[in-house]
Amino acid sequence: MFIPVFGNGDIKTPEKAKLYKETYGVDGIMIGRASIGYPWIFNEIKHYLKTGEHLPAPTMQERLDAVKQHIDFAVKWKGELVGLLEMRSHYGNYFKGTANFRDYRSQLVRKGTLEEINEVLYNIEQEFLVQ
Ligand SMILES: Cc1cc2nc3c(=O)[nH]c(=O)nc-3n(C[C@H](O)[C@H](O)[C@H](O)COP(=O)(O)O)c2cc1C
Repeated sequence: MFIPVFGNGDIKTPEKAKLYKETYGVDGIMIGRASIGYPWIFNEIKHYLKTGEHLPAPTMQERLDAVKQHIDFAVKWKGELVGLLEMRSHYGNYFKGTANFRDYRSQLVRKGTLEEINEVLYNIEQEFLVQ
């Protein structure tokens, strides 16, 4: 009988996933916190395990698309007030490592309506995407 064994807990990088696979021979890996605001981690790890190469970091367009989709789901599920309040804990992760982003992040965590958030996102697009 085959009983699959999964490794989990504090796996936050492709290197650590590889180490778990190689050290413990696990059949699969579960990832929790590292995926919060960073859904790209799953593909990054799969790609690294297959090729030994790192995928490039997500682009600003990809980050914006993901955060907009998350906002859309959050508002549909929880309503505008609660959905946007909950989103406040995610913006930092979605845009982690983006230079000159602090002011936009602080705007995102202060605004209370979808209209205001969309305006901030529009300004981010204008600064980071439009040439
Ligand atoms: C956002 C999030 C989603 C999770 N989803 C699942 C799930 O769908 N099924 C499951 O068995 N465990 C799920 N877990 C639990 C983790 O896979 C597991 O507890 C892992 O040990 C978390 O450790 P980590 O946060 O250190 O990666 C989830 C955890 C988090 C934080």
